[in-house]
Amino acid sequence: MLARMAADPKLDSGARAHFGALRARPRQAHALTLSASAEHFTPPWLLERVRRVMGAIDLDPCSCTEAQANVGAAHWYGAADDGLGRPWAGRVFINPPGDRRGALPKRFWCKLAEEVAAGNVVEVTWLAFNLAQLRTLQVDSRLLPECDVCVLRERIRFTGDSPTKDNAVLYWGPSRDRFADAFADVGTIWRGRSGRRQQLP
Ligand SMILES: C[S@@+](CC[C@H](N)C(=O)[O-])C[C@H]1O[C@@H](n2cnc3c(N)ncnc32)[C@H](O)[C@@H]1O
Repeated sequence: MLARMAADPKLDSGARAHFGALRARPRQAHALTLSASAEHFTPPWLLERVRRVMGAIDLDPCSCTEAQANVGAAHWYGAADDGLGRPWAGRVFINPPGDRRGALPKRFWCKLAEEVAAGNVVEVTWLAFNLAQLRTLQVDSRLLPECDVCVLRERIRFTGDSPTKDNAVLYWGPSRDRFADAFADVGTIWRGRSGRRQQLP
C-alpha cells in the first residue's frame, strides 16, 4: 500500500516522498533491534561478575578463539563444532549468536532447557543481546520463569561491530544471592520463581 502511494503519479512529489519515508521507517526500526553480526563479544567487566557468581565458567557453548581471550571457559564450542549438537555440562555462560529472525538464540535456549532438565547443566548465566530476546525465549516456558533477571542500566558496548541495545542478564542456579550482589550496581534485579530451582519437568 505505502509502496503504491509512494509511486502514485496522481500525488505530488512531496506526498510521494512522505509515503516513501513512511515505508522505509519500519525497516529502519527493525534494523535497530538486530545484531549486525554474530560476533559481539562480552566485555571483561561483565565476565568478571559472572565469575564472581558461578566461580568459573565450565562451558561456553557458542564462542570463538577471539572471544575466549576474555571468557576463559574450561571448554567451548565454536560455529564449526556446532554447540547445539554437543553435550553441555557444569556451569555454563551463554551469549548466543544472533540472526535476523532470532532463531539461533531460541535454539540455544531450548538446548539449554533440555540440558538443565537432564541435570547436566547445574548453573547458567545467559546474556540477552536485547530485551526483545526475552519474548522469544518463552518458546520453552519451563526455564524462563525460574530465572533471575538483571535489566542493565546502561547498554553494553560489545566488542565487535554490533550497535548497542538494551540488555539483560539471566541467571539460573544455586547462587541467587551472589547473582543479586554481583549485578546490583549495574542494573535492577527481578527474582524468578523460587522453590523449584533444581528441578525442571
Ligand atoms: C555473540 S558471540 C559470543 C561469543 C562469546 N561467547 C562471548 O560472549 O564473548 C556468539 C558466538 O557464537 C558463535 N557461533 C555461531 N553459531 C554457533 C554454533 N552453532 N555453535 C557454536 N558457536 C556458534 C559465533 O561465531 C560467535 O563467536
